[in-house]
Amino acid sequence: MSLQRGWFIVLEGIDGSGTTTQAKLLHEALVRSGTDCVVTREPTPGPVGVLLRQALSGQLRDGADVPVARLDFRCMALLFAADRCDHNERLIRPALASNQVVISDRYTLSSLLYQSLTAPVGEVWMDWLREINRTATKPDLTVVLDVTAETAKARRRARGGKDELYEVDELQRELAEAYLRGEKFVEGEQLEHVDGSQTTEQVHRQLLDRVLQLIADHP
Ligand code: TYD
Repeated sequence: MSLQRGWFIVLEGIDGSGTTTQAKLLHEALVRSGTDCVVTREPTPGPVGVLLRQALSGQLRDGADVPVARLDFRCMALLFAADRCDHNERLIRPALASNQVVISDRYTLSSLLYQSLTAPVGEVWMDWLREINRTATKPDLTVVLDVTAETAKARRRARGGKDELYEVDELQRELAEAYLRGEKFVEGEQLEHVDGSQTTEQVHRQLLDRVLQLIADHP
């Protein structure tokens, strides 16, 4: 199916909500249906994304090879915004301009929620977070995969690997709550929820149906 325009779909949710699995399945299904489509993720594999992955896994080192424990949340927010800027320039905008469907595993909503909830209590950072992400292309549709922090944690445990920076019970609970109210943070944009606690196949079906409907309604 050749499209008259590009479509930008974002999947969001807490750590272990299934965004990576679902982004991959959605991409495969769209490719099978003959749709020109690309799957991508944040942090990206680009230079800023590589730095972010080091920060997330506690592997940052300075120029003298001394470990750096962690970066301030404002540094993290700026790095995520810089990675997103690079992502837009090198992948998202060109792909949309050539009428492809772009599926991104995480995007600006992750920054608005994770970075505001890791900011010092009582200080309000939402406007600043919006400002540093202002020039990022807006998604046509953001789908939040809602799961409880407990379900997501059990999935992360089953997957194995060490906990990353934000994989902390209390924060994940706050994030799950915030994602439930996701539309409040992206007013004027289209955001929908899918119950991420269903089977992989059920979530995939709902997601695929929704995306096919979106494309069919506005070819
Ligand atoms: P994720 O892809 O879920 O990690 P993994 O590949 O290890 O499964 O995302 C990495 C982490 O970065 C995750 O905890 C969410 C966080 N994050 C932010 O805090 N802000 C952002 O803007 C983005 C894109 C991710």
